[in-house]
Amino acid sequence: MNTTFFQCIDRVTGFQTTGRGIEVELGTHEHEMLRVDVLCDDVIRLKISRNRVFDETPTHAVCADLVNVQAGFSVENNDKEITVRTSAMSLTVYREPFVIEARRADGSFLLQTHVDNEGRGWAYATLNDEFVVRRRCKREDAFYGLGEKTGRFNRRGRNFALWNSDVLSPSLAGGITDTSDGSLPTDPTSTEFDPYYISIPFFYHMPIQNAAMSGFFIDNSYRGRFEWVNPEEYLFHFEGGQYTEYLFAGPSMRDILASYTWLTGRISPPPLWSLGYHQCRWFAYTQEKVEALAEKMRSSEIPCDVIWLDIDHMDGYRVFTWDRKRFPTPEEMIARLRGDGFRVVTIIDPGVKYEHGYAVFDEAVQRDVLCKTEGGAIYLGQVWPGRTAFPDFVKPEARKWWGELNAKHVRSGLSGIWNDMNEPATGDIPDGAMRFDGGRAPHARYHNQYALLMAMGTVEGLLAAMPDKRTFVLSRAGSAGIQRYAANWLGDNMSRWEHLWMGIPMALGLGISGQPFVGADIGGFMENSNPELLVRWYQYGALTPFCWNHNSANQADQYPWVFGEIVEKLCKAAIDLRYRLMPYIYASFCQAAETGSPVQRPLLFDFQSDLTTREIDDEYLFGDALLVAPIYTEGCTERQVYLPAGTWHHWQTGEVFSGKQFVVAAAPMDYIPVYARGGTIIPMWPSAPKSTMDYHPTTIELHVFLPREDSVTRSFLQEDDGQSFAIREGGFWRTEFVLRKDGARVRIEATVSGKGYPEFRRERFAIVIHGGKVTNLTGVDNLHRLTADSFELIPGTADFSIEMDLT
Ligand code: GLC
Repeated sequence: MNTTFFQCIDRVTGFQTTGRGIEVELGTHEHEMLRVDVLCDDVIRLKISRNRVFDETPTHAVCADLVNVQAGFSVENNDKEITVRTSAMSLTVYREPFVIEARRADGSFLLQTHVDNEGRGWAYATLNDEFVVRRRCKREDAFYGLGEKTGRFNRRGRNFALWNSDVLSPSLAGGITDTSDGSLPTDPTSTEFDPYYISIPFFYHMPIQNAAMSGFFIDNSYRGRFEWVNPEEYLFHFEGGQYTEYLFAGPSMRDILASYTWLTGRISPPPLWSLGYHQCRWFAYTQEKVEALAEKMRSSEIPCDVIWLDIDHMDGYRVFTWDRKRFPTPEEMIARLRGDGFRVVTIIDPGVKYEHGYAVFDEAVQRDVLCKTEGGAIYLGQVWPGRTAFPDFVKPEARKWWGELNAKHVRSGLSGIWNDMNEPATGDIPDGAMRFDGGRAPHARYHNQYALLMAMGTVEGLLAAMPDKRTFVLSRAGSAGIQRYAANWLGDNMSRWEHLWMGIPMALGLGISGQPFVGADIGGFMENSNPELLVRWYQYGALTPFCWNHNSANQADQYPWVFGEIVEKLCKAAIDLRYRLMPYIYASFCQAAETGSPVQRPLLFDFQSDLTTREIDDEYLFGDALLVAPIYTEGCTERQVYLPAGTWHHWQTGEVFSGKQFVVAAAPMDYIPVYARGGTIIPMWPSAPKSTMDYHPTTIELHVFLPREDSVTRSFLQEDDGQSFAIREGGFWRTEFVLRKDGARVRIEATVSGKGYPEFRRERFAIVIHGGKVTNLTGVDNLHRLTADSFELIPGTADFSIEMDLT
């Protein structure tokens, strides 16, 4: 972008030490302040004032208690520079020109701001309410993050806008950012279209020399722009608000993400049912048709936990109503479905039909909780119900009101809520006139936070209605911190092969940006699916965090059974595998809740020092233990797969590979290549139940994938009721496994913690050893050999250890 008219801050004129770092006087014309706050050894916050005032809560992204954090630091100062130093990093402010540099303790750079040919420093420059920051980088550097973005996982070579957008809305077609070849992405169905539904101004910078990463979170929700096309510098620009940035020293992506999610929050352990298979469709269902669908699911023996109802369940698209002709007795329908293991979720858009006499609208007017224009009128858009008003979620009373509506709505028996069109999408009417906070705040300040605020209100309502149940909200839009309240799906994709692929880097980008609970519409939303595409999409989608088939109105059916018996069998097999893996998937979500690590993650996350993984975005790790290589081209029955260091067990054939090599893997129609990582123990259900509801198996299988190399590795199994908050008080059994391989000797130690829960039924572990023949098995008494490589163990909930020799 052209920064010619921006005004750089020219120099530092003074500074003082504070309790948490330094405060620096900036500028000879404009007098602003830079504040450097040390939050931890490896996290520093920078803030620059506007008109000498700091905005202490620029957005709702940060939830960590930063008031009470304390970290040690020292300050050094001479006539050239001022340095704040912790044990992990240092930040230097040069006096003239004003330049900021940050380094790790080993001297490697996190950042260096740009100085142009005229000697001006670009650490921070403004133009009216806008600001821009320009920094040095190298052509070979990689950049990752920014949440939900199209294109390659490595963002290098592209520019991006952060402005939550209803991608297929006709008023937006034309795109806002430029693509790699400089042309405008006029086609919103392209795999490079930008911006998308979710905006997360958090990114990683990875120079090629040392594989060390640094992380940066700009806590600002105005329209943003990130440029990574220039070979020697990158920049970011925001159209308003203040400059607040968190610097993460890394050097590991894992540590940076842990710190970022400490700041902006992590998911809570989700209800188990939300990890099951979800069947959705935009379709004018009637109550009978929904029940027939459920019955078909059961008669086909396709496991399914949730049936979703899109906008047509409403009376004329009025939110929080039911179309009583189509759904005369929704409560009874939901109760009957529940009897067969199904839960029901309905869509709730923010758009409230502008109609006097419609209770929700009348109440909104009476409580004064709708967005206003500058002139004080209720802002009007054009969405599904026609003339549409929007709740002013910036006001706490509007969120509370929304919560109450949700609470009432789910008393019909609904289990969760689907928030759509919350960018907010305003249809054919531009959104700029929509103001927030009772008309006080311009649209631009809260646009990107609208979905986050809506989800806050929704969660409040769900908790009020079901205080002992974990909440589940699915949201289309979002911003930093959305993971605390909602899962995200990837919006309106197309039934095209390139869109199947696009969902991979998109999910990986979200995963490393704090949102692990993501998934794409299996089969594709727009256009018609076809048998091969559907099968390949199920095989991949079943191994993503959120697993649903969703289809647009007026498109051909794409239920698992519509393309005949063979396709149905293959789709069912994919979903069956997901259900069998449920204990493992749940453990991966628990891990995400505890550490922020993604469930669907790039190879780079676990193998950062392996430079080959830098560009890989057509395979991924699903949790710690599984490597998934989807098929994303038509007619393809084999593909190249990169296996990083370690031992890899082909899931279907059992063949064992050493890593750090590319292999060509067969991919017949009945599976996509999946590998289990040597050293992991994958807990599984012995068979796929029809739903997770009330399923508490007496046997849990433990699949032990032996490494070839000597090593010590960890895995765990978490068993709990899957739906309540009893886990907070120890209502679970967690079994932590340590697997030690030392030559031909293998030892498994299991340590159990927790206080248990009433539904616990497990009697035994069936332990299956992969990749070695067991010759000498010792350990606890009640250990029975079943076959050459499997045995049964009845440990109760006691710790145990097993030793074996391998041949
Ligand atoms: C939007 C959503 C889609 C939904 C449709 C109708 O396009 O992204 O999932 O089916 O609206 O509600």
